[in-house]
Amino acid sequence: MSLKTVEWKNNKVVMIDQTKLPNELVFVEYDDFNQVADAIRLLIVRGAPAIGVSGAFGLALAVLQSHATTKDELISDLEKAKKILFETRPTAVNLAWGLEKIMDVAKEKNSVDEIRNSIIDTAKKMAEEDVQINKTIGKNGSELFDNNDTIMTHCNAGALATVAYGTALGVIRAIKESGKNVKVIATETRPVQQGSRLTAFELKHDGFDVSLIPDTAVGYTMANGLVNKVIVGADRIVKTGHVFNKIGTYQVATMAKQHGIPFYVAAPLSSFDMKSNPEDVIIEQRKASEVTGIGDKKTAPEGINVINPAFDMTPPELISGIITEKGVAKAPFEESIKKLFEAN
Ligand code: MRU
Repeated sequence: MSLKTVEWKNNKVVMIDQTKLPNELVFVEYDDFNQVADAIRLLIVRGAPAIGVSGAFGLALAVLQSHATTKDELISDLEKAKKILFETRPTAVNLAWGLEKIMDVAKEKNSVDEIRNSIIDTAKKMAEEDVQINKTIGKNGSELFDNNDTIMTHCNAGALATVAYGTALGVIRAIKESGKNVKVIATETRPVQQGSRLTAFELKHDGFDVSLIPDTAVGYTMANGLVNKVIVGADRIVKTGHVFNKIGTYQVATMAKQHGIPFYVAAPLSSFDMKSNPEDVIIEQRKASEVTGIGDKKTAPEGINVINPAFDMTPPELISGIITEKGVAKAPFEESIKKLFEAN
């Protein structure tokens, strides 16, 4: 059984505190949407689908916290909570998707009680659906991989980045479940080590053959024939097939192209942004201390200038396929992505 990252229990949101992994497996419990917003901002919960569902649960808490007696008052309280939740992280489109979905449900209903019940039910359903969608992505993706493949992954697009099962790591789970043998190479993913702290932890916890490499060993492992395929997740995919994902993904994709290694992206349709152009997407810039130290230990001189973007953009020409719950999009991406949405 893979880990459950975020859950609704007794009118509270329960999450694994991912900042404590891999040293401690600690669960935190929130009854205030502001705490959920802080948890997203501080990476207690992270990963695009997980923050989408967390945003929805945040609004479910907001509806319980509100003292509104009319629909208009309640919608106004929810709009305020939505703004606070939305402003936590700008790049993953799933957050906006989760919040909008809840607001749409709220606006459709007539009474305060109806809104309350339907928001909580919808958020819980979104969490359940996330797991089912990941399993379908896994099944669709597993067919692209062969027995004895060694698969590289970057960052964490696993159970810990979703409600459970994972997207990129969900494909790896499904490959194993289909009876094929696979090995995984996880990049450590500086600066906050989602690869070593989370992917290596999650895959080891679930009995996978996983090796950890420094980010700087991507070229070495590919040049020496140690990797057959790459799979990563996505924070946002725009209609042209440009993929926004954890910083370093672009380097891995470029290196894979150089060595003729297929590079796959696994993501649900909720990670697609069909309205924006690549240049419209805001790349989250994070604090310097993530780069000037590792954990609590300082590794750079005081006052040094730092550039710390959390995500980068991989262009479609480096991508072999985008695996979704509706099938696999391939080049020309603009056309095949459009078809996925038509089939939806
Ligand atoms: O900063 P993070 O840890 O939220 O970044 C996560 C990633 O970049 C993941 O690869 C992405 O969200 C896909 S998760 C299924």
